Amino acid sequence: MNQFAALKTDYVRKKLASTGIFNHIVYLETTTSTSDVARALPCIQDKHGTLIVAEEQTAGRGRKKNRWFSPKGKGLYFTLVLNPPEMSNVQLITLAAGVALTEAMENTCGLATKLKWPNDVYVRDRKLAGILTEAISRGKKLLAILVGIGINVNHEKGDLAEEIRNVSTSLKIAANKTVSREELLLNVLKSLDLAYRKLLRGSSGEILKCWLEKAAYLGERVVVTNENTSIEGEFIGLSNEGALLLRDYNNNVHEIWAADVIRCRKL
Ligand code: BTN
Repeated sequence: MNQFAALKTDYVRKKLASTGIFNHIVYLETTTSTSDVARALPCIQDKHGTLIVAEEQTAGRGRKKNRWFSPKGKGLYFTLVLNPPEMSNVQLITLAAGVALTEAMENTCGLATKLKWPNDVYVRDRKLAGILTEAISRGKKLLAILVGIGINVNHEKGDLAEEIRNVSTSLKIAANKTVSREELLLNVLKSLDLAYRKLLRGSSGEILKCWLEKAAYLGERVVVTNENTSIEGEFIGLSNEGALLLRDYNNNVHEIWAADVIRCRKL
C-alpha cells in the first residue's frame, strides 16, 4: 500500500479560523476530481468559501480535456467554491489565482516562479501548477465559480507521470527540499483571499499589474494555437479583461481569449 503523510487539515482549519472566507474544508483521501465533487454540492449558490481538498484524484482534469496527474500525498489538489456578486470582474479570477500561487510559492519555499498565460505556473521552463476555473450557471445567472488548483509539491521525478516528466517539475525538485503542504496551502489561501478582495473592490488593475510582473514571455515572440488556427506575434500585455494582447507582424493587435486557446508557447 502507498504510505503517505496525510495533510493536517485540523491545523489548516485552526489557522484559517480567523479569515472570513474559507469556512468549510472537505477533506477526501481519494476522489475522482475535487472539481467534480464541488460541482455536485447541493445549493452551490450558497457555498462561498467551501474548499474541497483531496490526497489523490483518479480523474483529475485540466484545461482542454488534459489530465491532471494527482499521485497520493504528493501534491495539493483542491477546488475552492466562490459565489461572487454579479458584475464583479470574475473573468480575472484565474489570473488572480495565478498571482496568489506565485506569492505563496515564494513565501513558502523562496522559489521564484513565472506565470504562463492563461493558467500555468512555471519554474525554469517546467510546469509546476495549473488552475482550472469553471463557472456554474443557471440560465443567465452565475451560481458559482469553481477554482481548481493542482500543485506538484513533493513529487520526486519518478512520481511525475511519464508523459509529463520532461515538461513538468515539482517544488521539491525545483527548490531541492521537502515543502510543507499545510504551509503552502495556507499561504495560497491567504494570497487568494487578498487577491479576490481586490477584484471585488474593483482593483483589477492591481491584479493585472502583479500578473504581468511575473509573466513568462512578455515582450517575446509567441505562437498561440486554438482549435483551427494559430497566430504569431509579440506578447505585449493583457487587456483590462485579462485577454492576451498579441501584436502580429503587420502591427495589428489581437485580443486572445483564454477559452479559445489550446496552447501559447514561445517561438
Ligand atoms: C491545467 O493545468 O490545465 C489545470 C489543472 C488543474 C488541476 C486541478 S487539481 C484540483 C482540481 N480538480 C481537478 O480535476 N482539476 C483541478
